[in-house]
Amino acid sequence: MITDLRSDTFTKPSPAMLEAMFKAPVGDDVFGEDPSVNKLEAVAAAMFGMEAALFCPSGTMTNQIGIKCHTQPGDEVICDKVSHVYIYEGGGIAFNSGSQVKALDGDRGRINAEQVMEAINPDDVHKARTSLVSLENTANRGGGSCYELTDFHNIKEICLQNKLKLHLDGARLWNALVAKGESPKQYGEIFDSISICLSKGLGTPVGSLLLGKFDFIKKARRVRKVFGGGMRQAGYLAAAGIYALENNINRLAEDHLHAHQIAGALAKKDFIGKIMPVETNIVIFEVKGSYTAKEFCERLRLDDILCLSISPTQVRMVTHLDVTGAMVKKLIEVIDTM
Ligand SMILES: Cc1ncc(COP(=O)(O)O)c(C=O)c1O
Repeated sequence: MITDLRSDTFTKPSPAMLEAMFKAPVGDDVFGEDPSVNKLEAVAAAMFGMEAALFCPSGTMTNQIGIKCHTQPGDEVICDKVSHVYIYEGGGIAFNSGSQVKALDGDRGRINAEQVMEAINPDDVHKARTSLVSLENTANRGGGSCYELTDFHNIKEICLQNKLKLHLDGARLWNALVAKGESPKQYGEIFDSISICLSKGLGTPVGSLLLGKFDFIKKARRVRKVFGGGMRQAGYLAAAGIYALENNINRLAEDHLHAHQIAGALAKKDFIGKIMPVETNIVIFEVKGSYTAKEFCERLRLDDILCLSISPTQVRMVTHLDVTGAMVKKLIEVIDTM
């Protein structure tokens, strides 16, 4: 029994999800003729109260298409300094959009309206044109931290006053919705575009969606083709997404409980330093004294438990639907003996 806590991207489709995929009606989605993709896009857009959606292979692609559609070469994008779009997408903002980033020093991956206000460039030929603010909820490198809705509203206000677009990297937005008791429509009202992933906490093998207005998604569909992301009988994958939206959202509370239980066990150990506050399904903590982060992971591997060292002193564990209560119990027993 391997317990894989390296990421919630390691989930494998359940028999019921595979069955839904197997039975999916399909067509050529580049021609707009895949009924399952069309259904997934319509269902997701309706959930968020947004006009349209676009199914893509990855969250990196939905983020990068969103940024491309909101910017012109030479523009500047405001985001937190640990944003996925900035540090984990291969320099995609520069590569795909020819834009640069103003990276802000936020609180566990979250920036606020005052910081955004200060970061907007004046209308001056020496300066890049600020055109987009990109936020992340939950914030991966912030240990799964969640924004407050009031912070989003305050940032939106600044964006409206300064004619900036507002994008959300919602790779793990589902976790935030469950943890905070929020609804997708509250997000649809705020953001110009939202990227949501189906292949993380929701457990599908592939897939993300970009949400926005009709015209924006029309433009995004063109960019998806240019990026090589036009898929053909993608309905088999979309069916997994429909299944996940119907069955795998509410259960995320269980993953959050597991993350809290793991953090509780870690907190008792003198070789564990600071643990980032646990808000959802990610536990990021410092390892000190008897172990480096790498050695800590190697020690757990001996008990078939996999986790990730994300710096010489920091380890990350992510709970998900393939991590059972029994696995968490075993992990806690192992930590207790260390
Ligand atoms: C916050 C965040 N955004 C975007 C992505 C990109 O998703 P993908 O791996 O599907 O490209 C990830 C992946 O882990 C992520 O954590």
